[in-house]
Amino acid sequence: MQVIHSVSELRARLAQEKSMAFVPTMGNLHAGHVALVQQARRQGTCVVVSIFVNPLQFGPNEDFDQYPRTLEADCAKLQGLADVVFAPSVAEMYPEQQSFYIELPPIAAELCGTHRPGHFRGMATVVLKLLNLVQPQVALFGKKDYQQLAIIRQMVTQFNLPVAIVGGETVRAEDGLALSSRNQYLTQAERTEAPQLHLTLQTVVEAIVGGVVDFTVLENEAEAALAKRGWRVEYVSIRSQHGLGKPPVGEGRLVVLAAARLGVTRLIDNLEVCL
Ligand code: PAF
Repeated sequence: MQVIHSVSELRARLAQEKSMAFVPTMGNLHAGHVALVQQARRQGTCVVVSIFVNPLQFGPNEDFDQYPRTLEADCAKLQGLADVVFAPSVAEMYPEQQSFYIELPPIAAELCGTHRPGHFRGMATVVLKLLNLVQPQVALFGKKDYQQLAIIRQMVTQFNLPVAIVGGETVRAEDGLALSSRNQYLTQAERTEAPQLHLTLQTVVEAIVGGVVDFTVLENEAEAALAKRGWRVEYVSIRSQHGLGKPPVGEGRLVVLAAARLGVTRLIDNLEVCL
C-alpha cells in the first residue's frame, strides 16, 4: 500500500492502472469505511482511498478544526485492503482559492441542505475534483449520507462523468446506532440515548409497511417523540429513494431520513423502505 500526498505523485502512480475502484473519505476510519473498501476490493481492481477533511464543506460554526485526523491509524486499517491512499494537504487540494463550484439542484437545499448551507456545494466540488484526479471506473459512497449519495449520482449522470457510483450499506453498532466519526463527540449518556434515532426511524418504517399513508403525521410524530427525549430535531422526512423528492401517491421505493442533535453532536440516519 502506497501513501501519497501530492497530486503529481498520485497521477504518476495511477497512470499505469486500467481499472480503479475509489473510496473518498475524510479519514478517522471506522467499520463502515472498512466495509466500503472491502466492497471496492471485490471489484477486483486497484483500490484507491482518499483521506481529506475538506474545508469547503464545513460551515463557519461547524467542526472542521475539531474533526478527528488520524492518518496513521487509518493507514493501519487500510493495510492489505487498499493499494493507494491519497492524503493531500489543504494546500495541495486547493493550491489557489477555489472560485469555481458546482451549482446544485434545489434538492440540495432541502433536508440537510436547509441546516448546513453550502455543505453540499463544497462536498460536490471536492468529489468532482477527486474523481478528476483519480479517474476511477467505480466510486463507492456510504448510504448513511443518503442525500450526499443522491446528489453525487445526479452530478455524475448530468455531467457525463465516466464512473459508476455504488452505494454501501450503513454499518451499525450492535444497538443500532449508525457508525460515524462524529459518534465520538457523544458523552456516555448521549451515547446510550443515540440509538433512539434508528429506533424512531424503525417505528416510522413499521407504520409505512403497516399501511399508514399520511406521511406528514408520521414525520411530525417521530419528530415530537425525539424532541420529548431531549433531541434537537432538524427533520424526519419520508422521501422517494430516487431523487429524494416528496413521494407521489403509490410510490413504492421510499426512504425515511432524519437529522437531530444530541447536545453538540449532530447525527443523521436513514432507512430504506420498499413496499
Ligand atoms: O462522506 C464524506 O466523508 C465526504 O463528504 C466526502 C464524500 C469524502 C467528500 O469530502
